[in-house]
Amino acid sequence: MVTPSENTPAKFYATTPIYYVNAKPHLGHAYTTIISDALARWHRLIGDDVHFLTGTDEHGLKIQQAADAAGLAPQAFADSIAPLFAEAWGKLNISHDDFIRTTEQRHRVGVQKLLQACYDNGDIELDTYSGLYCVACEAYFTEDDLVEGNCPIHKKPVEYVEEENYFFRLSRYGDRLLQWYRDHPNSIVPDYRMNEVIGFIKQGLLDFSISRNSFSWGIELPWDDKHIAYVWFDALANYITAIGYGTDDEMFNRHWPVDYHLIGKDIIRFHCVYWPAMLMSAGLEPPKGWAVGGWLLVGGEKMSKTTGNVVNPLDLIDDIGLDGFRYYVLAETPYGADGDFTYEGLIGRYNSDLANNLGNLLSRVATVVGKKCNGMSPAPLADSPLALPAAEAVRETMARWADVQPSRALEATWQLIRATNAYLENNEPWKAEPGPALDAVMGDALEALRIVCILASPAIPETAQTIWERIGMPGQITDQRLPLAVAWGGYPGGISIDKGEPLFPRRKLTEN
Ligand code: MSP
Repeated sequence: MVTPSENTPAKFYATTPIYYVNAKPHLGHAYTTIISDALARWHRLIGDDVHFLTGTDEHGLKIQQAADAAGLAPQAFADSIAPLFAEAWGKLNISHDDFIRTTEQRHRVGVQKLLQACYDNGDIELDTYSGLYCVACEAYFTEDDLVEGNCPIHKKPVEYVEEENYFFRLSRYGDRLLQWYRDHPNSIVPDYRMNEVIGFIKQGLLDFSISRNSFSWGIELPWDDKHIAYVWFDALANYITAIGYGTDDEMFNRHWPVDYHLIGKDIIRFHCVYWPAMLMSAGLEPPKGWAVGGWLLVGGEKMSKTTGNVVNPLDLIDDIGLDGFRYYVLAETPYGADGDFTYEGLIGRYNSDLANNLGNLLSRVATVVGKKCNGMSPAPLADSPLALPAAEAVRETMARWADVQPSRALEATWQLIRATNAYLENNEPWKAEPGPALDAVMGDALEALRIVCILASPAIPETAQTIWERIGMPGQITDQRLPLAVAWGGYPGGISIDKGEPLFPRRKLTEN
């Protein structure tokens, strides 16, 4: 008989986009990264063998120009910015297993292998390109794409360029891509993004240029060192070079194909059309999944240096606390839709969900146990009225994380917090005499809180661990495994409870 412990855990490989080093980490980058992090943490909790990758995109004209403007060589410039991302992710408690920089040797080796594989397969050919280019996007546009003559994303003028380049024969892949998506109808979440991808492929795919010879900041083509690889060809390859493509076959085979590329809606075409075609050409499997997020807007606009609406996530941590900020990012907007960042929204979410619901539950429970149970926790009842809401919260939370819908997963978890607060309000243990009836209510509330801690831990890892310790649970929450750990009745009772300082003191809206 096979017991669960003998089963090999499912592997789960997830990636963030790699961020351009022309800008410092901002709220938009943090948004995508926190969502990816929480998803990776959730999958560790359900026992998957997780590999979570992030990194920086350091080649190409845009970086070359930014380095020129800063008066630095491109490598020195990238070296000055890349650590800012690593630091920011440290401060945001991001649990990546690897951080790739596209200027690393392992990446260069893998990109050249990928280029060579597509070339050997006859999908890369020399041709002349003339057309319109936006450096900020590092992408080509047709006349029809432009809005009032400008790039539709950056609203800036595009340049006319004419170059002899190598081209990837994307036009050969339309039917294969359509067939692949027909066979994998659930591979893009939220599902409405699939229509966009299919629509784009059906319009007819144009070959795209994959090399440059007008500047040198990039990876040389292995068969023609006068050309460097186009930055998007280089960048997309990070998802395989980081796991050993070209350098470590065993590791590559363990992790590939990726389970989810988490991306913003602005880079869907590169990830859902170009990238699977490049992989097919090289004889590799396409990704298993893509999770496409909307933008977190500020004042209705995408953050950018040009509009001057850039919000530094680290300032928000100083203000509202690390987990207050993480929770806001995850809970406020359904994944996929655009959200609008407002300071009022941040404080409002914090006060209602963290201060009034979770924080209040812990402090009520700890106060009553301290006063009426001599600080020693009672155990839960097997047939507690909270057992059913707990089971529902577990089921719904699991289902929503599986759909990559963090806001809905947290909503389901918070239902249990609300049910527990309501249960306390109905029973009013603060008015009751010490005794078995009061003990039963408090044991049930503690058990619900234990389950909440586990379910909420991917979103608010630090605070969940603090609550865990305050209710007397030993060890690390990250060592808990679902579904066993969230079955009703796991709280042992008979342990001392630590009330501690309020975890989420209420905040007032200040002029900020
Ligand atoms: N370097 C490329 C990605 C290469 S992946 C192989 C790139 N970098 S980026 O730094 O400009 O943006 C990376 C991601 O951050 C994009 O998916 C983008 O959508 C996301 N975000 C940047 N600003 C954002 C918001 N304001 N809101 C949400 N996501 C945002 O593109």
